[in-house]
Amino acid sequence: MKLIFLTLLVIIGITDSRSEQYVVVGPADPVIALAGEDVILPCSVKPSISVVDMRVEWSRSDRNDSELVHLYEDHDDRNTNQSQSYRGRTKLNHEELQRGDASLKLSSVQVSDEGRYKCLIQSESWSDNATVDVSVEAVGSPPVITVDGFDQSGGLHLQCESEGWNPEPFLEWLNSEGASLSSEKTEMQRNTDGFRVKHSITVQHRDDKIHCRVRLRHHMLETLILTSSKSFNPWRKLIILSTIVAVLVVISGILLAVFVRKNREYNTRQNEYRRKKEEHSKLQKEKVRIQQEHEKLQEEKKRKQQEYSELLQNENQRIKQERDTILEEKVRIQREHEKREEEKNRIQQERDQLLEEKRKQQGEFI
Ligand SMILES: *[C@@H]1O[C@H](CO)[C@@H](O)[C@H](O)[C@H]1NC(C)=O
Ligand SMILES: *[C@@H]1O[C@H](CO)[C@@H](O)[C@H](O)[C@H]1NC(C)=O
Ligand SMILES: *[C@@H]1O[C@H](CO)[C@@H](O)[C@H](O)[C@H]1NC(C)=O
Repeated sequence: MKLIFLTLLVIIGITDSRSEQYVVVGPADPVIALAGEDVILPCSVKPSISVVDMRVEWSRSDRNDSELVHLYEDHDDRNTNQSQSYRGRTKLNHEELQRGDASLKLSSVQVSDEGRYKCLIQSESWSDNATVDVSVEAVGSPPVITVDGFDQSGGLHLQCESEGWNPEPFLEWLNSEGASLSSEKTEMQRNTDGFRVKHSITVQHRDDKIHCRVRLRHHMLETLILTSSKSFNPWRKLIILSTIVAVLVVISGILLAVFVRKNREYNTRQNEYRRKKEEHSKLQKEKVRIQQEHEKLQEEKKRKQQEYSELLQNENQRIKQERDTILEEKVRIQREHEKREEEKNRIQQERDQLLEEKRKQQGEFI
C-alpha cells in the first residue's frame, strides 16, 4: 500500500515538474531606449522551444485597460486591436519564434513608450509571462538664456529654459570660475514629449560669464552668456546680449550634432552587427537546404539505380525466355523436317514396291 502511494506521488511530481519546465523570461534589468531610435524588448521561453504555434501577446501592463502593443496568434500578427500609439512601430521576428524568442522590436521610440510591458506566451495547455521595464532617455533642446530685465542695484535677471528631456534633467547656473549659483525660481513641467525645465537667477555685473548647463547622465547641453561690467545703456546691452545668446545656441547645436553623430555611428555599428547575424543565419539555412537537396538527389540516384537494375534483370529474363522459345521452335521444325523425310522415304519405298510389283506382273504376263 505504501509503495503504491509513493509511486503515485512520484508520478504526480513528474507531471508537475513537466508542466513547469518551461518559463518565459525577460531581461533582468530595465531596457534603456534612446528617443527616436529603435529598441528590442527581450522575451523568450527557456529552455527554448518553438512558439510558432502559440499565442504571443505584448501589452502595456501599467495601463488600466492593458493596452495591446502587439499580438501574434494562429501563425500571424493580429494587430486590428493594437493601440493607436504603437501602429506600425512594432515587429516580431517570425523566424526567431522557432527558437522560442518572442522579442519585440519597437521603432522610433517616444517618451510615452516608457513604462512596464508584459510578454505573455500561451499554448492550449500552458501559459507564462514576463515583465519588461522600459526607460526612455530623451535629450532635450539646447538651453536658451533670456534677459528678463535689470533691478535698481544693477542686477541682471536671467532665465534659462530647455525642453524635451526624459527623465528629468539637472539644470544649474555656473559663474566664470565654474562655481554653482543657486537658482531663485525653478519650474518643471512634464508633457507627453518629456520634461521642460526653466530656472531664473539674478546676477551682478562682476559675474562676466554665466553658464546655464542642463545634464542628464552622460548628456550635457550648455549655453553661455557674457555680461559687461561697463555701464552701458540698458537697452543697448540687451541687444548685444541677445546676439551672443543666438551664437551660443548655435555652438550648443554643434555639440548636439556631435552627440547625435556619435550616437548614429553606434547605431550603424549595431545595425551592421544585426545585419551580419541575419546574413549568417540566412547562409546557415541555405546550407541546410542544399544538404537536404543533396540527400534528396542521392535518394533519387539510388532509386534510379534500383529501377535500372530491375529493368535490366527483367529484360535479360525476357531475352532468355525468347531464346528458349526460339530454340524450342527450331527443335520442333527439325523434328517436322525429319518426319517429312521419313514420309518421303516411306512414299519412295511404296512406289518402288509398286514398281516392282508391276514389273513382276508384266513378267508373268509375258
Ligand atoms: C485607472 O483606473 C482608475 C480606477 O479604476 C481611475 O481612477 C484612473 O483614472 C484610471 N486611469 C487611466 C489612465 O485610465
Ligand atoms: C478585437 O476586439 C474585438 C472586441 O473586443 C474582438 O471581438 C476581436 O476578436 C478582436 N480582434 C482580434 C484580432 O483579436
Ligand atoms: C503572469 O505570471 C504570473 C506569475 O509569473 C501569474 O501570477 C499571472 O497570473 C500571470 N498573468 C497572466 C495574465 O498570465
